[in-house]
Amino acid sequence: MGKKLFLIFIIVVGMISAGCAAKEAVQTTTAAPTAISPPKEFPPGELGEMVKLGKELVEQTNTQPLTKQYAGNALRCSSCHLNAGTDPKAGTFIGTASAYPAYSSREKAVITLEDRIQNCFMRSDNGIRPPDGSKPVVAIAAYITWLSQNNRMKMNPEKTLGPYAVPKLKVDLSKVDTGLGKRVYENKCANCHGMDGRGVAQYPPVWGPESYNAGAGLAKPNLVPLASWLKVAMPLGNPDLSEQEAIDVAAYVDSQPRPNFVLKEHLPSPDKMGVYNSNVPEEVVIAPTWPPRH
Ligand code: HEC
Ligand code: HEC
Repeated sequence: MGKKLFLIFIIVVGMISAGCAAKEAVQTTTAAPTAISPPKEFPPGELGEMVKLGKELVEQTNTQPLTKQYAGNALRCSSCHLNAGTDPKAGTFIGTASAYPAYSSREKAVITLEDRIQNCFMRSDNGIRPPDGSKPVVAIAAYITWLSQNNRMKMNPEKTLGPYAVPKLKVDLSKVDTGLGKRVYENKCANCHGMDGRGVAQYPPVWGPESYNAGAGLAKPNLVPLASWLKVAMPLGNPDLSEQEAIDVAAYVDSQPRPNFVLKEHLPSPDKMGVYNSNVPEEVVIAPTWPPRH
């Protein structure tokens, strides 16, 4: 460790004396000890195997036999948590475990990381809540915790979000232009996701029966989660939308049909599932249409 730091020091000094911008040198020194980079090595033994399995399940949620039975659409966790949650900006899992247990305003309860993972299967993946303590839940929790190891614990009393959550855009619904959003979609999105939004080959569906349901974060009628995520994530590899474009295209995408969310249809009976840790036993969300119904 001491040797490594010394090496960084030499590189920094080298860069400064070579005439590199001082800004770059500062970034080199601050990036090293902090946490927005994944650990380099898997833990040894069974734990390492579990972490690797978790990564696989995040990347192959809808096809891997362990998770396929709980996934209800064509999406994988990594469809939104880019690069299996290691992209530092777009829904990163780095640091996430340090925020849990956390207060969830949706469930009106303090929930664990495992609860959060189980709930994502019901909403973003439009599937069934996997049982408490089941292998997919343990494996994904192990993977996310591994990715969070370099972070200090800091439980979140307000939200089920980690320290590097996507910065939230301010959305003024009265200024949203779905027509402009449609144009953005046609120019910047349809070549991958299809004019009909149903996805093409490896490009996932953004609406329709195989996409996230109306109870998912990305479907919130205030447009904040989807617009904020699009700003940092899409078009894939070159996220260049202006804030207004991100908001308008979010309005267009979320005005399209998708599955409704009826909580009870996603919860197995308690003997199969264990405890559903929530104080909101009923929830029905009808797929939003634009403009929002009053
Ligand atoms: C349709 C998109 C989508 C899919 C699919 C999806 N998620 Fe998410 N998830 C999100 C968004 C958006 C957030 C909020 C991220 C943020 O604000 O940084 C989120 C947040 C989370 C968080 C909290 C992250 C944090 O740092 O606070 C966890 C944990 C999580 N999701 C797990 C999963 C798992 C496990 C799966 C697969 C079973 C999954 N998600 C599938 C969109 C998705
Ligand atoms: C170059 C191809 C490409 C372009 C262009 C593109 N996307 Fe994506 N998009 C993807 C891929 C691939 C994923 C899944 C990420 C992964 O698997 O790594 C994705 C994921 C998504 C998701 C989350 C998963 C889902 O299917 O719901 C949304 C929403 C989305 N894109 C919307 C958009 C919007 C809106 C635009 C235009 C502003 C856009 N994308 C442009 C390739 C693209």
